[in-house]
Amino acid sequence: MAERITESSSGVPKHPEVVVIAGARAVDPQRGLDAIVDIVIERGKITRLGPNAASSEQLTSERALVIDGMNRWVFPAFVDLHAHFREPGHEYKEDISSGLRAAAAGGFGHVCCMANTRPINDTRAVTEMMVARARTHGGTRLHPIGAITMGQRGEELTEMADLRDAGAVGVSDDGVCVMSSVVMRRALEYARTFDMPVIQHCEDHGLTAGAQMHEGAVATKLGLRGWPRVAEDIIVARDLLLAEATGARYHVAHVSTEGAVRLIREAKSRGIRVTAEVTPHHLMLTDESVIGYQTYCKVNPPLREARDIEALRLALADGTIDAIATDHAPHSPLEKDCEMESASPGMIGLELVVPVLLELVKNGTLSLARFIDALTRSPASIVSLEAPQLVEGARAELTMIDPDVEHIVSPLSLRSKSKNTPFIDRAYRGRVELTLLGEDLAFAAASVFTKRDPRLTTRDPRFTKRDNR
Ligand code: DOR
Repeated sequence: MAERITESSSGVPKHPEVVVIAGARAVDPQRGLDAIVDIVIERGKITRLGPNAASSEQLTSERALVIDGMNRWVFPAFVDLHAHFREPGHEYKEDISSGLRAAAAGGFGHVCCMANTRPINDTRAVTEMMVARARTHGGTRLHPIGAITMGQRGEELTEMADLRDAGAVGVSDDGVCVMSSVVMRRALEYARTFDMPVIQHCEDHGLTAGAQMHEGAVATKLGLRGWPRVAEDIIVARDLLLAEATGARYHVAHVSTEGAVRLIREAKSRGIRVTAEVTPHHLMLTDESVIGYQTYCKVNPPLREARDIEALRLALADGTIDAIATDHAPHSPLEKDCEMESASPGMIGLELVVPVLLELVKNGTLSLARFIDALTRSPASIVSLEAPQLVEGARAELTMIDPDVEHIVSPLSLRSKSKNTPFIDRAYRGRVELTLLGEDLAFAAASVFTKRDPRLTTRDPRFTKRDNR
């Protein structure tokens, strides 16, 4: 039976002065940490972390929010390289506040937001506005990604130095590919001057004109025009040559093909400065999900075939693909509950990473350490952010999951304004229960306030009360 999750149970302070997580399995591959510990957080900072690190006074203090960590896992908060928050312009799909709430509920401490807003984030003014709006919200931190070209038209470069000064951590025309080799070369050269990554949406638009899904047997059966793998591979190949020639940092967004993986692996072995990300849906779904004209499975790049999934999983496991990124792409029923050709591509993802991907850890496809690395240190390093860490002295930026709880992801349980995902109304094992960012209890499931460890005998009514709003 699914349990409703609330932002913060009534009576629980949003900014507790002291938080103690008692007896949780803490895992942080950056620190070589995998142990059952207590974590004491005072005024937003980790002050003690270790086996039985919390004093009995702290465990029973009236001032402290004591959280039972028994059978729960604590990780550094996640970092997402790729989300679409739709503000400015399409706030009916998602706005910065709803996007940040969804991010916190998904375990994310940092989210990078793509530039295909309206207006497009191709100027300092839009970047500054996004940063300012996110600051007033608090919780998960938003890092804008500026456009590579003005209006994402692929012609004139943006003023990247301005975008960076205003807070952009990378540049991308995501949703559209920079088709011109000259423009891409200049973009890489410009971004290299301050070592900012250029993030490419790899799609040769000539080869994908009219495409609704992956080109293959399923597309033929459905009578839909297909997007061939080579449309992605050809851009990756060209860009890798340009990255080599310019020495710039090049990042491949949402890799989906076996061929792109092969090219990236080879480029890395030759020292080219390339990084790559993969989405949960490209790791878990094939083009067969589109059967029945499932518009919720229409996404760019499209869902591929079993052999691509196999290649993506292996590449994520061996580090060829550096990071997991959600490509959280909210769309309303207006854009999704319609015929395939009119449907907008994309699906939401911020709140689904743990439920959907934990299976890969449990079945041994991915080690827990690699899973966490791909969601924390690795993406943070790509956009030059300081990665959240579980270590004494660090700002508390952590997420706690219950790896075993059975639940159903329903539209009502999602914070995002949009519900466009095929992963909805399914049963999962494992979910995020807490996201703590500094002093901000950015997300807490009601179940967090139920104590199971016999050491925690105090019954502070503030933390046992449930609110099932
Ligand atoms: O499916 C997608 N949706 N892929 C993209 O690259 C863009 C995104 C969107 O903005 O909706």
